[in-house]
Amino acid sequence: MNQHRNSGDERCIGVALLGCGTVGSEVVRLLESQAAELTARIGAPIVLRGIAVRRANRHRDVPAELLTTDAAALVARDDVDVVVEVVGGIEPVRTLLLTALRAGKSVVTANKALLAEYTAELAEAADASGADLYFEAAVAGAIPIVRPVRESLAGDRITKVVGILNGTTNFILSAMDSTGAGYAETLEEAGRLGYAEADPTADVDGFDAAAKAAILASLAFHTRVTAADVYREGIRAISASDIAAAKALDCTVKLLALCERVVGEDGVERVSARVHPAMVPRAHPLAAVDGAFNAVVVEAEAAGRLMFYGQGAGGAPTASAVLGDLVSVSRNLVHGGRGPRESTYAELEVADMGQTPTRYHVSLDVPDRAGVLAAVAGEFAKRDVSISVVRQIGHGEGASLVVVTHTASDAALADTVAALSDAPFVTAVTSVLRVEGGTP
Ligand code: NDP
Ligand code: HSE
Repeated sequence: MNQHRNSGDERCIGVALLGCGTVGSEVVRLLESQAAELTARIGAPIVLRGIAVRRANRHRDVPAELLTTDAAALVARDDVDVVVEVVGGIEPVRTLLLTALRAGKSVVTANKALLAEYTAELAEAADASGADLYFEAAVAGAIPIVRPVRESLAGDRITKVVGILNGTTNFILSAMDSTGAGYAETLEEAGRLGYAEADPTADVDGFDAAAKAAILASLAFHTRVTAADVYREGIRAISASDIAAAKALDCTVKLLALCERVVGEDGVERVSARVHPAMVPRAHPLAAVDGAFNAVVVEAEAAGRLMFYGQGAGGAPTASAVLGDLVSVSRNLVHGGRGPRESTYAELEVADMGQTPTRYHVSLDVPDRAGVLAAVAGEFAKRDVSISVVRQIGHGEGASLVVVTHTASDAALADTVAALSDAPFVTAVTSVLRVEGGTP
């Protein structure tokens, strides 16, 4: 069992901070500005033993004597009880955190990329030494969502978690919705305003949201889900006409992370974890989440539907979540006890995207003549896909058809769209979006 180390006669919690960038610098600021209150809440002061960075000469706002470029030596110090990691990426962080955990030092991390791949390894190391592994900041920044899913709802049965977990893409989609502009020009604007990074791949291709979805699905369904298990589509292909098609049905388009229990035709319950754009009715609570904000809706059998909303990124909001974890870990060290362990007893299989029940909205340009609507409907019927809404908008020689389906397997829906794209009675498939959250 890890013991908190004493410094002289005074009981204290020695902390090694790895990283002092956007989040780390705010962690330092909060540790300084709230030192007295944190001490009162924990029952012992937190003492920052050192701050590991890559370029020590770049950090003029933190005490120079704390800076080091030797993270391994800092983690190994005898007077370090807790390692707070806000560096990001896989190595050298994975090795550093495993070393810390194996030595019985608790870890607080904001690193979704690492957790989405290596939670099993980290949790095993924590269990072996009795250390804590906390990671509230890794999903949705300041929003408390890891703790509610892992602890508050531990007595309930969660059936679904659906969220907007990436602020950059939500900013872009919200702006496209409000201005009618296309994806490329809105991405450029997001870059100018500091929302999108120079290389926006992790955000716009859905990798960031998929990592967070893997973490939430693992916690919600007591099953190990990694980023590789999460079906992923980003927002690069979303066009102004997709947004216009959504608007015509009083919907908006959001990049959703969806984690849910699904029961296949074989009667087996599996976990579906996926990230993709979806058309969401404006009356749905997630439709109102604008700009760079995040929100998560959790559905549980007894609790019903719960919604969590707030700032999913940024230095201070993320540091707030990191500090919350640091207080929990420190209290465990001072008063005894341990945070929750990884819980994977359910060992559910992860469902293929093709098996997952979804709904589609499809817009088609078609010739405006007798029999075309029946032929289009026939392609859906052939694959046992039931239609919920059909609307025709005539324009000159041709017409536009909008079809919204009932729920069917994603494979059947994708197959129908492929067939329609090749059909002689369809001029063009102009928009295909999944639909989530009620009937548009
Ligand atoms: P930054 O890039 O701003 O900061 C990273 C820090 O890590 C820098 O101080 C850098 O040092 C340091 N660093 C890099 N490599 C090493 C190394 N090998 N050894 C020691 N230090 C190193 O990242 P953020 O603060 O934005 O993000 C940190 C973590 O928090 C990531 O895991 C991220 O996913 C997560 N997160 C971030 C959010 C945000 O809004 N920024 C929101 C939620 C989570 P130097 O400055 O000298 O280069
Ligand atoms: N890049 C992320 C976002 C923030 O846009 O939400 C870090 O998780």
